[in-house]
Amino acid sequence: MSGSQLWDDVDFYFTTHLAPDDEALQACLRESEAAGLPHVNVTANQGKFLHLLAQIQDVRHILEIGTLGGYSTIWLGRALPADGRLISLEYSPRHAEVATRNIARAGLDKITEVRVGPALESLPKLADENPAPFDLVFIDADKANNARYVEWALKLARTGSLIIIDNVVRGGRVIDAESAEQDVRGTRAAIELIASHPRLSGTAIQTVGSKGYDGFALARVLA
Ligand code: SAH
Ligand code: DHB
Ligand code: MG
Repeated sequence: MSGSQLWDDVDFYFTTHLAPDDEALQACLRESEAAGLPHVNVTANQGKFLHLLAQIQDVRHILEIGTLGGYSTIWLGRALPADGRLISLEYSPRHAEVATRNIARAGLDKITEVRVGPALESLPKLADENPAPFDLVFIDADKANNARYVEWALKLARTGSLIIIDNVVRGGRVIDAESAEQDVRGTRAAIELIASHPRLSGTAIQTVGSKGYDGFALARVLA
């Protein structure tokens, strides 16, 4: 859904002041466009929001599910210390290739790894490696699997970790309990899992802006 001109204008105002781009972010979007990737990256303001949340979390280890061209990856990766680590899971080898170049151009290649494959295959492999717990997990891939991704995030997290899910509103479609759309069903399952899980405390915020009307769910992992 595309938003109103006013949402665009307000997004532009906040972005120019608070989330200005730079050569690496510009190049990331330019190269993603040139490679024909879909325009579904987070906006600059949303990227800055993720970046601030990651800093507030004092992140050392970040897991992202759904890399695309690496735009959100760059915003998140810039919150990491020099010895931090970001693992981003991406289904499409083509997306991963574009992202890997974009991440390298942003100087984040030493701390970032893009793993290719369906995330539900990459996640058990990752778990087998017994990685340090992820302080923040950003879920932004195939929405049908959102609840499964929350379950994996919990397995790979620690008390106090933050789980963020993108696109939980989708123009309001989330409230349709009868929806046959797999993405709506997956997102509702994730919201209901967060609501009922004894180790999760969450909320969701609705957003408007240049990407229309959507939102993020946030959940903190409890003891
Ligand atoms: N986080 C990115 C946008 C991700 S778009 C940003 O904001 O910049 C969603 C991505 O998830 C796409 O690149 C798509 O190829 C990927 N994806 C879809 N299904 C997936 C799956 N099963 N496992 C991993 N990635 C998947
Ligand atoms: C889509 C995916 C996203 O991650 C997003 O932020 C917006 C749209 C999509 O697949 O339509
Ligand atoms: Mg998204």
